[in-house]
Amino acid sequence: MNNFTFCTPTKIIFGKGIESQIGDTIKTYGASRVLIHYGGGSVKKTGLLDKVIASLQAAGLQWVELGGVSPNPKLSFIHQGIALCQKEKVDFILAVGGGSVIDSSKAIGVGLATGNDPWQYASTGTRPEPNQVFPVGVVLTLAAAGSEMSNSDVITNDLLSPWIKQGITSETVRPVVAFLNPENTVTVSKFQTGCGIVDIMMHTMERYFLGTPDCDLTERIAEGLLIAVRDAGRRAIANPDDYEARATLMWASSLSHNDLTGCGKPRLFPVHKLEHPVSALHDNISHGAGLSVLFPAWAQFILSKNIDVMKFAQLANRVWGVEMDFDHPERTAANGIATMKRYFVEIGMPVTMTQLGLQPEDYDAIINLTTKNDTSPVKSYIPLGNAEILEIYHLAED
Ligand code: NZQ
Ligand code: ZN
Repeated sequence: MNNFTFCTPTKIIFGKGIESQIGDTIKTYGASRVLIHYGGGSVKKTGLLDKVIASLQAAGLQWVELGGVSPNPKLSFIHQGIALCQKEKVDFILAVGGGSVIDSSKAIGVGLATGNDPWQYASTGTRPEPNQVFPVGVVLTLAAAGSEMSNSDVITNDLLSPWIKQGITSETVRPVVAFLNPENTVTVSKFQTGCGIVDIMMHTMERYFLGTPDCDLTERIAEGLLIAVRDAGRRAIANPDDYEARATLMWASSLSHNDLTGCGKPRLFPVHKLEHPVSALHDNISHGAGLSVLFPAWAQFILSKNIDVMKFAQLANRVWGVEMDFDHPERTAANGIATMKRYFVEIGMPVTMTQLGLQPEDYDAIINLTTKNDTSPVKSYIPLGNAEILEIYHLAED
């Protein structure tokens, strides 16, 4: 187990009817003038926005609204948010939505706290100073990205050509509080529920692999989370109103990306690095759908090089129920990937490039964006340059 620091300070308020606590709670973090930030309108349709406003009103808080965050949140809109907050003297940002709304809120917060364009931090990998924190709270409506507890903030620069999607990684972007009512996720479509299931699994699996050999407790936590998500995912897809299934997914979303499932392991996230350029250049592709296609292909590629076979076999056996073939662990490992792929199909997720709407003529542009024209390979078990990524794409063709 490697040395590690685990600090995940977001306060979680979980369960039914918790919206009435929002106003009084965020007041304890210094809120007096709040930006309520939301997406394309689902929070209006479901009535959640009214409940949030009622709670702020009851607590005597003032607020301004900015709806319209699009999936894969855009820098130009974040700039509008920063300008609005400065004009209105906002002192707290309340994200009401999924990962895109949260990440837009975090980026606005970075802009306000630092006085700099948040893209500066995403593009250079530098981090805001520890004292440059602007408080962000979350009312979560979609179990997926885990941004409600994570130290990441993924934004798309739509002012560049081509667009680039990149993350700010910093402890300063962890929300101070998140309100998690699973009832607020029952209206999520089957497709977005599936994308969320895959993304939650990926945040844990990306940490599971590429790790140190002796990390048994962390791996057992990861496997437990994956099994619970596997089963709850099936139930939520079959019956969107299943409260317990939605509750499991929501809590797993947060735990999967707050670093708990990675304690003592390195954090490289190669498949996320393969996916982000896909959804940057093809804005209609959801992050979870991209991962659903790329992760099995990446795993097949790594196995074809005979790397970390026992870890893939372990996952296959413990999470995907494949019997261990001690004489041929590579068969167990390959069966595990095939079983996971069948699970993704079962929950309605794409598993091929064509299902994502991508054709071979689209590949070059995405691959060159991923590797900066083959000058900056993706760090994985082995570096993934243009040739390796093309091989992975081919494995995702059938
Ligand atoms: O915009 P509205 O109308 O709210 O509709 C959204 C959106 O169309 C809809 N939705 C959300 N809650 C709903 C609902 N529809 C009905 N009922 C509800 N309760 O779902 C659609 C997708 O929303 P979005 O927020 O884009 O999805 P998600 O939570 O999957 O977030 C994806 C973004 O997060 C980034 C991804 O790259 C992507 O940009 N990620 C952020 C991470 C982080 N900050 O830690 C980590 C992840 O790996 C990921 O990269
Ligand atoms: Zn993700």
